[in-house]
Amino acid sequence: MDKILIIGACGQIGGELTLALRKKYGNDIVIASDIREEAEILKGTGPYVVLDANDATATRALVKKENIKTIYLLAALLSATGEKNPKLCWDLNMGSLRQVLDLGVEEKIKIFWPSSIAVFGKTTPRDNTPQKTIIEPTTMYGITKYAGEMLCEYYNKKFGLDVRSVRYPGLISWKSEPGGGTTDYAVEIFYEAIKKGEYNCFLSENTYLPMMYMDDAIRATIDIMEAPRENIKTSMGYNLSAISFSPKEIAEEIKKHILSLTISYAPDHRQAIADSWPASIDDSTARLDWGWKPEFDLSKMTEVMLVNLKEKLK
Ligand code: SER
Repeated sequence: MDKILIIGACGQIGGELTLALRKKYGNDIVIASDIREEAEILKGTGPYVVLDANDATATRALVKKENIKTIYLLAALLSATGEKNPKLCWDLNMGSLRQVLDLGVEEKIKIFWPSSIAVFGKTTPRDNTPQKTIIEPTTMYGITKYAGEMLCEYYNKKFGLDVRSVRYPGLISWKSEPGGGTTDYAVEIFYEAIKKGEYNCFLSENTYLPMMYMDDAIRATIDIMEAPRENIKTSMGYNLSAISFSPKEIAEEIKKHILSLTISYAPDHRQAIADSWPASIDDSTARLDWGWKPEFDLSKMTEVMLVNLKEKLK
């Protein structure tokens, strides 16, 4: 079988996606790479290479040497970190995408590149945001994701490149922690609930955002890549939806298991980012085109998170 390369394999999605792909296709088929040292979660599970996502020469050499025919490009700076360093956010998010798309055309590689709910902005309808709508992002992260989607669509139409994308909502997992995002509170709250029984949230209590349990996100990623190309009607990001909740609602759900949990609110600079994003997403196009369907709702996710995190934090 042709080999698969994961770029950004030590991030929140990359680690779990690498493990899922290795389980499905075999350990040696999936080459994990990141600019960082190998993450604990990956150690001993298969090949690992240190690779700068912006280094076109090194990426090309690796692709040729290993005969790689699929790339999952996950390296990126997220929304909150991106606002602190907008130039780096543009350079990393767009530079890595551009070089991988060019390589994809040269070497006939199938590519996955994630987009995000961050493409949407204040002028977008907030509830049940449609697949096609007004898209005017206000964060540098959102701008790179929207520009990236258009670039993917361009490379598909112009060069026939098979590149596929989804707009992930906030992702929640007990195995890997997020870094630098606005939706990170929905993971932090579980850690703090177990460790301290209290959580001070950086978003206000009624801030609704679209979220998803990681297992659903990984399944969506593999499913869209395995779908026949004729079912993939766009190379722009497909809307994906699973759960929509506010900090107050997730706290209430956790309180069903940890009765003593208290939550306070101290909104910071991330509130403005959250306020510019949708509260819920209409994903009917992904459901229709390639059969997407989430499995985890708020109560099921909360249960799985608490059971596993309690064990992990022992
Ligand atoms: N989880 C991301 C963020 O908060 C959204 O794609 O930046």
